[in-house]
Amino acid sequence: MRGRFVTFEGGEGCGKSTQVKRLAEHLRSKGVEVVLTREPGGTRLAELIRGLLKDEREDPPCDRSELLLFLAARAQLVRNVIVPALDSGKWVLSDRFSDSTFAYQGYGRGLPLDSLRLMNCFACEGLKPDLTLLLDVRPDVAAARMRRREAATNTSADRIELAGDDFHSRLRAGFLELAKAEPDRMKVIDANGSPDEVWAQILQNMV
Ligand SMILES: Nc1ncnc2c1ncn2[C@@H]1O[C@H](COP(=O)(O)OP(=O)(O)OP(=O)(O)O)[C@@H](O)[C@H]1O
Ligand SMILES: [Mg+2]
Repeated sequence: MRGRFVTFEGGEGCGKSTQVKRLAEHLRSKGVEVVLTREPGGTRLAELIRGLLKDEREDPPCDRSELLLFLAARAQLVRNVIVPALDSGKWVLSDRFSDSTFAYQGYGRGLPLDSLRLMNCFACEGLKPDLTLLLDVRPDVAAARMRRREAATNTSADRIELAGDDFHSRLRAGFLELAKAEPDRMKVIDANGSPDEVWAQILQNMV
């Protein structure tokens, strides 16, 4: 039997990485074979592309080359990791996937959504998630979490995280719009609460 493909989406600091790990542990404890991956990344080449996207030196990618780099990483991940895992009956959980492209490059950067959909479909060979959990947080909550994380890990925000408030509010509205257009696939989770409160809602959506 083919496995299920579940993706986690939302802006920075909404809790994707925290909750995707929790879901992986939960499924494994029930005997489900799980492949946990993230975007951009998840293969050697795709992780190299991730490094290029986060590069903050001179000559940052323009909007279109940023898009193409994300899609190149995704094509590699889909073909070499996600599809083989699903075909062998494993579940695949991904920390970000196509909806991040529509939200960041479409609603955020302003590239045309119809082109993004076509190009993304090409990169994914038509693969779509079976279920997408959109972790929605208020901007002030996300910002406070990011500040705490930066202090705790002694890191600073990267190029994309540093885009302005305006960009981040377009992003949030964009994600919510995407969920509204595909309510069966994409579930909105109120991610303002504690990790346990968020997890409880995720479990409710796993049935
Ligand atoms: N529900 C929560 N309440 C409070 N803090 C949280 C919650 N969920 C996660 N955190 C903390 O907030 C920070 C951001 O969470 P996490 O890394 O899971 O978010 P993310 O969506 O993966 O962010 P990014 O997009 O930057 O990778 C982490 O330090 C994490 O421990
Ligand atoms: Mg994360």
